Amino acid sequence: MKLPEQVTLVDVGPRDGLQNEAQPVAAVHKIELVHRLQAAGCTEIEVTSFVSPKWVPQMADNAQVLAGIQRASGVRYSVLTPNMKGLEAALAAPRAHWPHEVVVFAAASEAFSQRNINCSIAQSVERFAPVVAAAHEAGLKVRAAISCAVGCPYQGEVSADEVERVAQLMKDIGVDHCGVADTIGVGTPLRVAAAMERALKHFPLHEVSGHFHDTYGQALANILVCLEMGIHVFDSSIAGLGGCPYAKGATGNVATEDVVFMLHGMGIETGLDLHALVDAGAWISQVLGRAPVSRVSRALLAKRGLALEAPQVASA
Ligand code: HMG
Ligand code: MG
Repeated sequence: MKLPEQVTLVDVGPRDGLQNEAQPVAAVHKIELVHRLQAAGCTEIEVTSFVSPKWVPQMADNAQVLAGIQRASGVRYSVLTPNMKGLEAALAAPRAHWPHEVVVFAAASEAFSQRNINCSIAQSVERFAPVVAAAHEAGLKVRAAISCAVGCPYQGEVSADEVERVAQLMKDIGVDHCGVADTIGVGTPLRVAAAMERALKHFPLHEVSGHFHDTYGQALANILVCLEMGIHVFDSSIAGLGGCPYAKGATGNVATEDVVFMLHGMGIETGLDLHALVDAGAWISQVLGRAPVSRVSRALLAKRGLALEAPQVASA
């Protein structure tokens, strides 16, 4: 079994992690989180989403957050853009504040597509086509997320055929990268491998990634099976924050700290500083008034004698 020597983690904490928070999180804290992630070595950060503020009020400060980041060299920043309005808003700022990459998100399940973005799968892809073209025109990379790639909160099981159908549609409109997402964390390794295989029929190995919510504690096993397939890009969320507002009961993405601990333990490089990540995760968890979900963070904080107390929140 030849495993990748290096893995890239896209930290989606500032977006996927925070979008589901009921309490408003101040833009300064979102910006500070991005700064802490890049200081810990993150080179890919999903910052915010240019979606309707009526649908996801927590992301209403998208432009402020994206413009407020002190950019670090070598770091790529991405944002969600579900339609042209979202892309235009992301590009309304001076070029220095543009994202490097935009994410269009469709579902492998019709029911979830309706609930999440208020249209059918086919309509969503039609809506993405001009977004992809305009993003390319602006020199941005385009990533697709295929939600509910193994299970749907409304429909139940989702077949690999349904994943392949969306992957093919995404390829047809010129998307560069295909993220396969287990939105509600019900995937187990063989089912996840089957979904990934279908994405790999349409995208090269380095342009397929896994996005695993850890609701049922399966995410690390799912990442391992992907590593065995040679997949070496994964989304993860600092402290295990998050969930999707349109997938009730779904918890956060797999915690970045947990993935890094596993990868480093396997001798796989990430370029990330685990202890700095633990600090970042403890800090944002304290901002939110709770302990990190990450098992690794909890263990390392306890070992440091900090129990689950996080460092004091820095004033803005
Ligand atoms: P809609 O209501 O069908 O859109 O929403 P519409 O075109 O009819 O517009 C309705 C109103 O929204 C109008 O305003 C538009 O201007 C405005 P009004 O005239 O009523 O004042 N509007 C916008 N405002 C700001 N930015 C925009 C935008 N678009 C329209 N981009 C829409 C369709 C897609 C906009 C809506 O359903 C939406 O924003 N959905 C977002 C849902 C979301 O963010 N879900 C979470 C992210 S996806 C996720 O977490 C999954 C992922 O992590 C992978 C996984 O785990 O599965 C990626
Ligand atoms: Mg997600």
